[in-house]
Amino acid sequence: MVHQRDGTAIISGMDVGDFRQMKAWIGLTSSEADQLRLVGPRLQASFPGVVELFYRTLLKDPEAKAVFRDDAQLRRVQDLLNTWIQELFEGHYDEAYFEKRSKIGRTHVRVDLPQRFIFTAMSLIRTELTQLIQALDLPDSLGAIEALHKLLDLELAIMLETYRESYVDKVREADRIIMQRQLDEVQHMATIGQLAASLAHEIKNPLAGISGAVQVISSEMEDSHPHRQIMKEILQQIDRLDSAVDDLLIYARPKPPELRQADVGQVIRNCLNVLRGDPSLQTLTVKCEGADHHLDATIDSVQMEQVISNLVLNAAQACNSDGQITVALAATDDKLMIRVQDNGEGMSEETRKRALEPFFTTKAKGTGLGLSICAHIVQAHRGSLQITSTPGVGTLVEICLPRRPHATGETRSVI
Ligand code: HEM
Repeated sequence: MVHQRDGTAIISGMDVGDFRQMKAWIGLTSSEADQLRLVGPRLQASFPGVVELFYRTLLKDPEAKAVFRDDAQLRRVQDLLNTWIQELFEGHYDEAYFEKRSKIGRTHVRVDLPQRFIFTAMSLIRTELTQLIQALDLPDSLGAIEALHKLLDLELAIMLETYRESYVDKVREADRIIMQRQLDEVQHMATIGQLAASLAHEIKNPLAGISGAVQVISSEMEDSHPHRQIMKEILQQIDRLDSAVDDLLIYARPKPPELRQADVGQVIRNCLNVLRGDPSLQTLTVKCEGADHHLDATIDSVQMEQVISNLVLNAAQACNSDGQITVALAATDDKLMIRVQDNGEGMSEETRKRALEPFFTTKAKGTGLGLSICAHIVQAHRGSLQITSTPGVGTLVEICLPRRPHATGETRSVI
């Protein structure tokens, strides 16, 4: 049945009107109802046997068995099924009967019963009860069997319809929870973004002032002045604070990538050239593979340089003074792979799993935002970022990007 609520079309499940209509279609008459009522007492003693066979057959299937929580529940359901069979033969197939039967489908959805089991289960019950009626050798066994089939068809229709209705409700509710979570996340990020922007303003301006003043004082000092080293350290700490604020800003207010055709080999070479001056790389060997020939892709070069630089600096921090870092580029027609590998201390499984979480860090220094910024940038390029690591052996970060994010038709990335 379809009706409108708040202007939205809603397909609802079976109601009492549908039940009456279905009963009329199936053609279950009051004399057939009487036939079932009369035959019931003569079958009653055999119902526990039907129930026993039903569950014995069911429990042979591991998936069906898994639906049951414990033995106590199983015993309870056996009693419920026994009652259900008795009620089949009470002869009152009215609205109260329908209301009661409607609950069963809902219960089955609640316990995550796969719907296909209902058909086989109903077929088993049908066969067993038919045989029981045949064995009574009644003057009109065929009539009673036909009445039973009609009633079981009606039961199946109620069970499947209420099953479908509850299932749709369950899926809708799950969707609603997911959407609410996404909305909360967006609102949360918007709040963090505003906070970060105003904090950044409040912090960066005075920092620039302090930095300028320290540089002036420092430039007026003789090289041999005992406080010169202290001034240098103050400036280094200011730089650290400044880049921590930058990280927070980038994380909280990510910019969508400005995608343009670029030579990715060139992007990697530029990035490594800049990094060569970084103190943390001075004693390490940094190798570059596959970046010497032209390989074009549609990327935001600035953001991608930021990702590679971040990964190389992370790798450097994980290495001993004689460590080695390799940045490798490879491509297929439609994909680009950038690998940053080190032979440093590696990560435990626990650390590896949490490495992309914002603010997660195992280092004394750092905001714990670097890797999650990388992941966001890669995700915005519709790519994926994967980390594999072995403690004591090293870490490999693999980035896979579509060469033409717009042309591939890819919709989601997995990070
Ligand atoms: C045509 C076949 C079936 C019938 C007539 C039937 C009947 C029933 C009935 C009457 C209830 C109680 C509903 C309520 O009022 O809450 C119930 C619940 C349940 N059924 Fe079925 N059932 C059938 C098939 C199955 C199958 C195939 C499985 C498992 C593989 C199953 C597992 C359960 C479970 C786990 C419950 C929940 C018991 C609880 O509330 O703890 N049923 N069923």
